[in-house]
Amino acid sequence: MDDAIEGRLKALKEKYAASGQELLDFLDGLLEADYLTYWDYIRLDSLLSLQQPRTSHHDESIFIMYHQITELYFKMVLHELDPLIEAAPASQEALTESIRRCNRYFGALEHSFGVMVDGMDRAQFLRFRMALIPASGFQSGQYRMIELGSAKLNDLVHLDQRAAMADEKDVDILLNAIYWLRGATLEKDGQKTLTLVQFEKKYGEVFKKRAQQSRGKTLSDQAKQLFESGHLSDDLKNAFRAFDQYVNVLWPLQHYRSAVRYLAKQPTDARATGGTNWQKYLPPRFQKRIFFPFLWDEKEQEEWGKSFVDRYVSEE
Ligand code: HEM
Repeated sequence: MDDAIEGRLKALKEKYAASGQELLDFLDGLLEADYLTYWDYIRLDSLLSLQQPRTSHHDESIFIMYHQITELYFKMVLHELDPLIEAAPASQEALTESIRRCNRYFGALEHSFGVMVDGMDRAQFLRFRMALIPASGFQSGQYRMIELGSAKLNDLVHLDQRAAMADEKDVDILLNAIYWLRGATLEKDGQKTLTLVQFEKKYGEVFKKRAQQSRGKTLSDQAKQLFESGHLSDDLKNAFRAFDQYVNVLWPLQHYRSAVRYLAKQPTDARATGGTNWQKYLPPRFQKRIFFPFLWDEKEQEEWGKSFVDRYVSEE
């Protein structure tokens, strides 16, 4: 018998013996097993069966698929972030590599958002959107998990209360002042929208657990520790800054453009979005969400998202 094959068999025998298993049984299994196919490996049939429009409008499928694509990218981002949080403090090498990957994913999302902004018929959108309320991308749990793993919870408090709550430690108090509540309370009476009520019912406890588990270990905590000790490399600093821009300015701005294109100045405006004032809520310069405030100077923070907003929105 070929030396290489004999060597492998010996190694396999040792591997299985270590857990009390018989190599022969596994070889029999190999003889029986079918070849793996591409479609089974990536679960293609399941994947392609997940698009279930609620209307007969052609463009609703585009809307569903692009949301699904985005959620998969969010999952890839969390796939990088979660081990970093668990390993805190992660090494600079691991942080740099993973944050660069996340930036690539968000870069792909930023550049592909035209699929939404320009890629659907507006009249169709306004019609099929009515069959989807009160569902909204606002209810993306993964998007919030990315934020909760990246920023100190105090930095996710709504801008109006952020300075006052800079030293607050109570997770419940902070979550009760989180910025996104403003995006889902009714303009007329300050009541929570059904979108928010359902969102909290599904994810309230999950977010609380995430906030508690990542306390002191978020990307921001890790970046700050390196920054203050003078050890933050330029490469990692640039990667963190790019990540801040992608998640908190560039992606939100592309997203905002789609809201402007489809929803602005429409008589159905409020109805299609459940009664929230998204024009005042969505733009990055109003939210000023910044994961790593210590990596930006005062002027950069003051003008957060502004130059980009001017550039994109003036084109509308
Ligand atoms: C034509 C396309 C889209 C339009 C018109 C649109 C519109 C809106 C509006 C108006 C809001 C504010 C909350 C509300 O009133 O419901 C919102 C929030 C949100 N949407 Fe979209 N959206 C679009 C596509 C997407 C896509 C593809 C995603 C990807 C998952 C997404 C994710 C989100 C997220 C995460 C929020 C919360 C943002 C925040 O809290 O700052 N949206 N969207």
